[in-house]
Amino acid sequence: MMDSIFMKRCLQLAANGRATCAPNPMVGAVAVHQGLIIGEGWHRKAGELHAEPNAIHSVKNPELLKASTLYVNLEPCSHVGKTPPCVDLIIEKQIPRVVVGCLDPFPQVSGRGVSKLRAAGIDVTVGVEEAACMDLNRHFIRFHREKRPYIILKWAQTADGFLDFSRIPGDQKQSLKISTPFTQMLVHKLRTECDVVLVGTNTAILDNPALTVRFWTGKSPVRAVLDRQMMLPKDSVLLNGRIPTIVYTSKTDREEGNISWVHIDFNENVISQILHDLYSRNLQTLLVEGGTSIYASFLRMGLWDEIRTETSSQCIGHGISAPDLSGISLFEKESMDFDENSGACRKIRIFRPSSGLN
Ligand SMILES: NC(=O)c1ccc[n+]([C@@H]2O[C@H](COP(=O)([O-])OP(=O)(O)OC[C@H]3O[C@@H](n4cnc5c(N)ncnc54)[C@H](OP(=O)(O)O)[C@@H]3O)[C@@H](O)[C@H]2O)c1
Repeated sequence: MMDSIFMKRCLQLAANGRATCAPNPMVGAVAVHQGLIIGEGWHRKAGELHAEPNAIHSVKNPELLKASTLYVNLEPCSHVGKTPPCVDLIIEKQIPRVVVGCLDPFPQVSGRGVSKLRAAGIDVTVGVEEAACMDLNRHFIRFHREKRPYIILKWAQTADGFLDFSRIPGDQKQSLKISTPFTQMLVHKLRTECDVVLVGTNTAILDNPALTVRFWTGKSPVRAVLDRQMMLPKDSVLLNGRIPTIVYTSKTDREEGNISWVHIDFNENVISQILHDLYSRNLQTLLVEGGTSIYASFLRMGLWDEIRTETSSQCIGHGISAPDLSGISLFEKESMDFDENSGACRKIRIFRPSSGLN
């Protein structure tokens, strides 16, 4: 019971690193002496100290560590990376008990940290709140296990199931406004938690999106766009070079400042080639922001880990249809309703595949 409470605190702390610690996992640690928390820490940024030393160094009276339990949501590392191994510090501080949420997802090192602690005579408990610990780092786990980014498909639709009015490139008609300032802010927050955001050719041409973070604090993700024929106007915001941007095309393979044109074979599987390229760039979380054809391609291949939809109360009767999710095996993870001042209601839903993470 107490183990579970302190592990949940580790998860809270770990989540502080959500927008900053990639490509490393989110990790939180808590030192507990006689039922009281005496130290806390989390991994803030790749290259900086891990959660365990941050928690250990925060303890005012280090002598107490010799009679304390250290809780951590992910197995402490036993290898020398950018920072020294955490297990060595735990052993050096003579902490008698360690509680671990889940083992390291890398098969080559999984269990090694725990073995080293046990070999030093430390009492180690593994698997407290294990499902929640795996879930927190599902992007990291998916990326390393399947050698592809964690994929989030996100769209906004009307109550009668449309993404936009019917428009084709060249149309001067403005896109349909579905999101509100508040839900737009949520999208920008989501972008800070993703490494790369992808759009299709038509969305890039029709909407001329910036895909940056403006209504939240944090880093803008890398932008990626499909442009087989290099049809994107030269003055497109996506080509302004302010943010690293990848253009997948059949025409060229070159870099210019912040923009990389990456040649892919459009006669082969486009999505697989994109995922392969993003993996090679160590980009762990992919946010797909449309349009319909791109969503359809990912859904057809079953390549998605999360779907986030926003549904407004407006009806437009006809237009570009939102993806059809009937027949897809999903479960609703979260649902939030927002009542705007105007009285219009927004429903935000988050789906995951029924099969879960494993
Ligand atoms: N409500 C929302 O949340 C939301 C979000 C995004 C977009 N939208 C709307 O969606 C509309 C655009 O959707 P769309 O379906 O026409 O265009 P899209 O998905 O943005 O782009 C599709 C184009 O990308 C290229 N492409 C190349 N390989 C592809 C592949 N494997 N799978 C899919 N596309 C590939 C194709 O162009 P080539 O044949 O030239 O290669 C294809 O026609 C716009 O009206 C936009 O405003 C709405």
